[in-house]
Amino acid sequence: MEKYIINGGNRLEGEVEVSGAKNAAVAILPAVVLSDGICRIENIPNIADVASSLEILAHLGARVRRINKNTVEIDPRGVSPVVVPHDLARQMRASYYFIGVLLGRFGTARVSMPGGCNFGVRPIDQHLKGFTALGAEVSPMEQGMIEVTAQRLVGNSIYLDMVSVGATVNIMLAAVRARGTTVIENAAKEPHIVDLANFLNTMGADVRGAGTDVIKIRGVDHLDGATYSIIPDQIEAGTYMVAAAATAGNVLVRNVIPKHLESITAKLMEMGVQVEEYDDAVRVSRTGPIHHCNVKTMPHPGFPTDMQPQIAVLLSMAEGTSILTESVWDNRFRYIEELRRMGVQAQVDGKVAVFQGIPQLTAAPIKATDLRAGVAMVIAALAARGTSEIEEIQHIERGYEDVDKKFAALGADIRRVSQPDGDMKIKAV
Ligand code: EPZ
Repeated sequence: MEKYIINGGNRLEGEVEVSGAKNAAVAILPAVVLSDGICRIENIPNIADVASSLEILAHLGARVRRINKNTVEIDPRGVSPVVVPHDLARQMRASYYFIGVLLGRFGTARVSMPGGCNFGVRPIDQHLKGFTALGAEVSPMEQGMIEVTAQRLVGNSIYLDMVSVGATVNIMLAAVRARGTTVIENAAKEPHIVDLANFLNTMGADVRGAGTDVIKIRGVDHLDGATYSIIPDQIEAGTYMVAAAATAGNVLVRNVIPKHLESITAKLMEMGVQVEEYDDAVRVSRTGPIHHCNVKTMPHPGFPTDMQPQIAVLLSMAEGTSILTESVWDNRFRYIEELRRMGVQAQVDGKVAVFQGIPQLTAAPIKATDLRAGVAMVIAALAARGTSEIEEIQHIERGYEDVDKKFAALGADIRRVSQPDGDMKIKAV
């Protein structure tokens, strides 16, 4: 029932602190199951997907203690391979990482098929191919449940048919305690793959090559507990960078790894946006018009698909014609229908969207269709003339910590409104 009410037109100015990376956190939290000791995870984002991961850990028997908003201590010693039921697994895509860790730790996993953003069909054949190569048997069960079991996992070479973040993570998780060496070829290279490998190695694993397209995992018998701090969220950082550009603002985006932002920085500069890099921050500002530009999403280090809807808002305000090509997902342009209500002029043909830029977006009531599309709508509303209402914001809050507060601190006029029992209440931010 919650929604954002945004009066657009304010330039964003000031500083914003980026939280820990969602897609690293949702891989690292399940990985704790592989450990024989207590793990303390710091810089975890306080978002719904993390809460869902912690809920599943507790369901499996882990003792989960919140130290503060962004630190959690997990004792996995009481975990047993009980079923991960549908009501928990459907809350997010990354619940499938519990297949990898339960298989890796106990040789058996029964997990309901995952939920998450809807971009059409999202198969997990590459995950299953990896588990099978390690010696597991995969059996579909009733009601969308899947069972994966192995007497003993044994390392093997696995070539992924496409670059898949999820399959790379899941195979790493299953292989860490397998006998012998596993080699993943055509592996994903995203920063959160490297972060997961660093966490596993901190616990005593032997994972090499993460960040390249060949990852080698030599199985070990035992993993210790560890203290680990998650990397900053590349996509959250990019989101604030684009928001600064869209509102002709001037924002210092802090707690970032500039190297992870290179593809985003390069495109913003091509569009006439100023980006200055510091050791752990970037300043983004715009004074002139937005130049048209072509963008194609690619696996890392290419332009991230998870920044595609946000950059689309900028292209819709650019001078002239811009082409945006989605090469990771088959169906990630559904949100454009919603953006048209704000005046966006775009033709979509399959995986290509062609934008005719307009100088000024106009406010409208809109619905967030998924996480990144939802935050792109927030950016559009911040840049638009007039008052927009954005509904279905639970999609956005799955992945962005305090997004309303962070934008408000930058000078945005944004309120989060809840409507319990039909009675409209406004929460100040
Ligand atoms: C991860 O999803 C991210 N999610 C997604 O971010 C992101 O869009 C995606 O990687 C690509 O970067 C998490 O990390 C939790 P893939 P994932 O496996 O792992 C096809 C966000 O907004 N494929 O890399 O599910 C698949 O259909 C989310 O934070 C198969 O065909 O993505 C897609 O076309 C949304 N078979 C492509 O590969 C498989 O077995 C890449 O998917 C696996 C994938």
